Amino acid sequence: MAEPVLQLEDLTVRFQLKRGQLTAVDGASFTVHRGETFGLVGESGSGKSVTARSVMRLNPSPPSEVVRGRIMFEGENILDKSDSGMRELRGKHVAMVFQEPMSALNPVYTVGAQISDALRTNMGMTKKEAQERVIELLALVGIPSPASRFKNYVHEFSGGMRQRVMLAMALSCDPTFLIADEPTTALDVTIQATILELIRSMIERFNMSLIFITHNLGVVAHTCDTIGVMYASHIVELGSTDEIFANPLHPYTQGLLNSIPRLDTQQKFLTPIKGLVCNMLEPPNGCKFHPRCEQAMDICTQEIPQMKEVAPGHFAACHLHN
Ligand SMILES: Nc1ncnc2c1ncn2[C@@H]1O[C@H](COP(=O)(O)OP(=O)(O)O)[C@@H](O)[C@H]1O
Ligand SMILES: [Mg+2]
Repeated sequence: MAEPVLQLEDLTVRFQLKRGQLTAVDGASFTVHRGETFGLVGESGSGKSVTARSVMRLNPSPPSEVVRGRIMFEGENILDKSDSGMRELRGKHVAMVFQEPMSALNPVYTVGAQISDALRTNMGMTKKEAQERVIELLALVGIPSPASRFKNYVHEFSGGMRQRVMLAMALSCDPTFLIADEPTTALDVTIQATILELIRSMIERFNMSLIFITHNLGVVAHTCDTIGVMYASHIVELGSTDEIFANPLHPYTQGLLNSIPRLDTQQKFLTPIKGLVCNMLEPPNGCKFHPRCEQAMDICTQEIPQMKEVAPGHFAACHLHN
């Protein structure tokens, strides 16, 4: 296995809100190696975006606060970095693609001007060099007539094209690490597939590491090497994609798998997981999944299960496996 690039160790992020205290990420630990694609999967509200934004230090603070843990990136704790150190990290090493490009791209500047500005600031390019590089990048992500598209505003692009622009922007500084937070969720299915394929080809071409975030386990089946399943602020299962699909250990992962169409099993029906994600301001005691779990035991209502290596490299936090 290649060397570790990003290591989350016991990351715990809490929001102090008027309505009360909310732990959005609780004790999350995982490692992403060079060239690896890591899928972070879970229903909406499970803490995926807060985890991702912690790596970029983009959670609003206050109300959020990292109360425990470390985020080691290439051997240094991101949480100890100065603001200028963070700007350098975001500009040159780690880039992020968001679900909604309209909120990340500025509507009042042309797409070309935005990406070239970033290039001139982060890479010290001249105006002309930056412009040439942007046209190259737009072509790379498959935008037709990139030289004339350079002068367009975000609203002049379709949803799929905007996501390509976001990707071009993210790639502009030659990052070694990309975080894509539900980059295809807002798109229709055929365009989703194209964008996914595009991200994959960029990852391979530039030997980047990737955290790919999605609520749809089906999306990561063919794209990710490793999967972390998140439920109500906890990583509940962690392992290689093959292992997770062949031998899911946590009832939540099993539930997610039963709710997506699969070609690799004799599945006849899709069964959604019953119930809803708990209220994160008043989560249940014990395992947060127990109110929805068909296999819940007494201990599940009282004790939070710890992550345990059940098979080599395959971890689960579930009392069934203790
Ligand atoms: N800026 C914020 N202010 C208050 N609560 C937030 C904020 N961002 C996220 N949360 C809360 O943190 C929890 C995790 O959110 P999030 O990471 O966005 O989930 P996901 O990306 O998995 O859908 C949710 O309960 C959400 O309401
Ligand atoms: Mg999210």
